[in-house]
Amino acid sequence: MRTRFERLKDKYPYYNDTFDFEERINLVMKKLKLFDKFRLLSGRRFSFWLTKPIRRLKIPSLGMTDGPNGVAFHSSFKKNTKFPNSKCLSSTWNRELAKEYGIAVAKEVRASKRHILLAPGINIDRTPMNGRTFEYFSEDPYLTREIGSPFVEGLQSQRIGACLKHYAANNQETNRFKINSQVDERVLHEIYLRAFRDIVLRSNPWVIMGSYNKINGVSGCSNKELLRDTLMSKWGFNGYVVTDWFATRGITQPENCIKAGLSLEMPKSIVYKMNQLRKAYKQGKFTIEELDDVVRRLLRVLFYVGLFDNPESIPPGERNTPEIQSVAKRIAEEGIILLKNEKEMLPLDIGEVKTIAVLGPNKNKKFGKLLYGGSAAVVPPFEITPEEGLMKKLEGKVEFTEDRMIADYCIVFAGLDHSRGKDCESLDRDNFELPEDQIQLIKETVNINPNTIVVLLNGSPVPMIQWIDNVPVIIEAWYPGMEGGSVIADVLFGDINPSGKLPITFPKELNDSPAHKSEKTFPGDGENVLYEEGLFVGYRHFDQQQIEPQFSFGYGLSYTTFEYSNLKLVKNLISKGRPVTISVDLTNTGERAGSEIVQLYISANESPIVRPPKELKNFAKVHLEPGETKTVDLRVSISDLIYYDSRIHTWTYGLGTYTVRIGSSSQEIKFETLVACKP
Ligand code: BGC
Repeated sequence: MRTRFERLKDKYPYYNDTFDFEERINLVMKKLKLFDKFRLLSGRRFSFWLTKPIRRLKIPSLGMTDGPNGVAFHSSFKKNTKFPNSKCLSSTWNRELAKEYGIAVAKEVRASKRHILLAPGINIDRTPMNGRTFEYFSEDPYLTREIGSPFVEGLQSQRIGACLKHYAANNQETNRFKINSQVDERVLHEIYLRAFRDIVLRSNPWVIMGSYNKINGVSGCSNKELLRDTLMSKWGFNGYVVTDWFATRGITQPENCIKAGLSLEMPKSIVYKMNQLRKAYKQGKFTIEELDDVVRRLLRVLFYVGLFDNPESIPPGERNTPEIQSVAKRIAEEGIILLKNEKEMLPLDIGEVKTIAVLGPNKNKKFGKLLYGGSAAVVPPFEITPEEGLMKKLEGKVEFTEDRMIADYCIVFAGLDHSRGKDCESLDRDNFELPEDQIQLIKETVNINPNTIVVLLNGSPVPMIQWIDNVPVIIEAWYPGMEGGSVIADVLFGDINPSGKLPITFPKELNDSPAHKSEKTFPGDGENVLYEEGLFVGYRHFDQQQIEPQFSFGYGLSYTTFEYSNLKLVKNLISKGRPVTISVDLTNTGERAGSEIVQLYISANESPIVRPPKELKNFAKVHLEPGETKTVDLRVSISDLIYYDSRIHTWTYGLGTYTVRIGSSSQEIKFETLVACKP
């Protein structure tokens, strides 16, 4: 008996998987009538996540699903693994793990009968008040790309498409459908587009999502300069652009979207309505070549994800397996950050601790609920809360008490959650402070019992100035996913040695951070938001203004100690095609095995134009046994020195000397040296 696939192959030559994709796309294109092409440009009515099939030609629907923290219930209708949030992933600074995450989540996308994951979210953190900070990686374009690229590669290795979002300068939720981000050309390229560019160039993501907001007056979904001219012509993107859901509401002319290169309007036709398209086409407002290009791009991805291939040749899906859950667990293990550990109070000794008091609103909160926080919400089959994790670990060994006075240690689980006005899509945070009752709880607890540990569960920075001096131990656990409670217990009791480092600066107060000079710079006047801080976003701003943050970018402690020695630079001349390698010896000088993230920052010394004081350009995560030493090699090449020159509208680099700094965070620099860039 011939299989369904074989029968399709006999009748429709584009099902013949011995031809290459472009040839097969040509074959489909030849069969499409004008109205088929129009049909393909918008989502299937009432489905919300699918493209329209063309049954006559056996062109199936392509299925999409949210989102950045795992496969969302609202778009897959299935319970799936709730991974730690994106900030937790980027705090691991672990490229391989990001790839494993991509592979693991791809299996669940496939098992959910979807083909595209609407992730990663790679917008740059401009303000900690952005309600979606928890969905994004970092304030730094380099770290964003280093985590984003392997994630995309992992996903796509399973023939599941990545969708980079939200393109571009989508940095706040206030007035998100109409706000116009007013950004200077150089800043746009160096800060807000850089990670998109680099990930497109390196990892060829198959889909890009156009943003709700306007960029310098033009919507993300009809922005010819950003889509057609930059993304497609300059960077060579060959996949399709999809709107953010309903993002075309304010657009009236379909030709603007087609000319810009927008292939797919989701979740249904608004500007790409059949009659509107027909009329505009008849009036010559767009050409058949322009139309064919956007259709072809969409079809290309249908081929990439395997919709026309023998199903047996497609990597299989699975969900909620121990292997996938173990990836979620490892991200939490490596992403949790030890921020403060006075007198080495941690790790606690399970043999010595007799009683603990577990407090705080987040000790038993479950974060994996339908749409809790918006489109990134995932509903997992189970979720271990911090208190459950501790109870499981300490059962029969340590007593739990409510009496803070008699407890050996008090552990306060504070932070935010995904309710409106906190870490939540569609509106920004309503307050930078932790809720007042939490501040009181922390202050009161540490007053009663100096052995107080604060564990924060949140997705965006919170200030600590009111209580930090009195609290000896602080852990940033982010939203650590469905296995998070056990991991936190393992960190507290030393089975896991924390190694995460901050991917975002924690300011002491909101006014210290870059976007908060005035209402005009955040959240704008309802129409425009001015990116007046320019290049000085995140640590670039704190460095330039010499403001001391609460915790700097790249910072994080360990239960062991590391010593940096023996900085070596074999040659100090750098030129095109000739990178330099800086090496440093790293020794674990403590008594526990642990991992350190060695960071490399660059500053231009004789630049013809203003450059940030320093910029992250490389890092290595190194695991060391006690007493062990390893040599860490970090490369710097010309592409690490480039800046965007708006006079010639492209990237360039300056000759002269550059200072290379090696450190354990952006502020803890261990060595610096000079390299010279020659023609
Ligand atoms: C969000 C996107 C999401 C889409 C589909 C939008 O509101 O901005 O990030 O992928 O909805 O749920």
